[in-house]
Amino acid sequence: MNAQSALTTSPPAASDTSAVPDYLAPVFAQYPLDVVAASGVWLDTRDGRRVLDLYGGHAVAALGYGHPAWIEAIARQARTLSFQTNAVQLEVRLRAAERLVRFSGLDIARVFFVNSGAEANENALKMAFTITGRTQVAAIEHSFHGRTAGAAAITWGAAGKWYGFPRLPFDVSFIPRRDANAIAAQVTSATAAVIVEPVQGVGGAFDMGAPFLRALRERCDAVGALLIFDEVQCGMGRVGEPFAARLYGVLPDMITTAKALGNGFPCAALLMTPAVAHALRLEALGTTFGGGPMACAAIEAVIDAIESEHLLERVRSTAAQIRSRCIVGPVLAHQGAGLLVGLRTARPAKEVHAALLARGILAGSSADPSILRLLPPFILESGHVELLREALLDIGG
Ligand SMILES: Cc1ncc(COP(=O)(O)O)c(C=O)c1O
Repeated sequence: MNAQSALTTSPPAASDTSAVPDYLAPVFAQYPLDVVAASGVWLDTRDGRRVLDLYGGHAVAALGYGHPAWIEAIARQARTLSFQTNAVQLEVRLRAAERLVRFSGLDIARVFFVNSGAEANENALKMAFTITGRTQVAAIEHSFHGRTAGAAAITWGAAGKWYGFPRLPFDVSFIPRRDANAIAAQVTSATAAVIVEPVQGVGGAFDMGAPFLRALRERCDAVGALLIFDEVQCGMGRVGEPFAARLYGVLPDMITTAKALGNGFPCAALLMTPAVAHALRLEALGTTFGGGPMACAAIEAVIDAIESEHLLERVRSTAAQIRSRCIVGPVLAHQGAGLLVGLRTARPAKEVHAALLARGILAGSSADPSILRLLPPFILESGHVELLREALLDIGG
């Protein structure tokens, strides 16, 4: 198609509920849900329904929607200084990094702010290749790390399904989940890094467990490889601790995080231990938008809210309530950690997902067809959990 014919093509049809023609790339399957507004844990639809959001915009809306302090922090920053390059030192950027390091409670020396989870992972890999001078990476089966060339190369099944680049940029091997005995064969003196989601998200809210993560740490130390925790989805309090590294008591060399970090303002971060930070050189990493002042204001507001509203405790108690009250109806068992919950269903999770939506509850799915995934805002209350229980009982076994 040449430019002229592209311009003269008539606009695509409007969707069912909106008058606006749809020019968006049709690459996302769409839930039958037309959301026009949201507040707290509730979504408002164009046809006047209120839907309980247990999906949280895919683990993003940690504070829920319309959190006043978060809105005010972004608005204030927009009024004061909406953007400046990383070549200019900004106090709000310094503050966000310092808050994040303190929030982590881990031995983190440096933070590199970027825009997305995939970009954080790409930069973590770049550091590992630079430090070790090696070219191999070991990832975990059923992992998801993003859609850019490097992040997709370490994503399970991407090469066969949607990779889209002509070749992988480096050598990758995969370790079966929780199989400590399989680690040594894949992690050798040629391995630059092992990357693992301590609790897999897309893979089905699957918790790797402390023994497996400890075994990865030990093997990395033995062969001189770096250990990267991808906490893009499970980090920033979702497991009831600031990071899963704290929950499992295993310190990786780098942590990547995103999603809840900005509560919807796009941002991500790469956290580095002192040994990794030591290898940083001027211009080794870079970004235009990463660490922008508005993103940093959002990050500060998120950490403020998590701490001042005691949201880690809330995550732990609500997560425990879901596990004790919601193994009913079509749900047989649970997995995952904190508010990254996998509910194992007796029938296809897709069917349960649709049945819940018909009852005004939005959940998530996963790559595992019998796992319904819940990624709710941290502000979820016990009454909301009871609504889920009632809906599941109504759906029946
Ligand atoms: C664990 C994990 N890593 C990386 C990514 C990629 O993040 P992004 O879509 O921000 O690039 C995701 C996204 O779902 C994720 O769940």
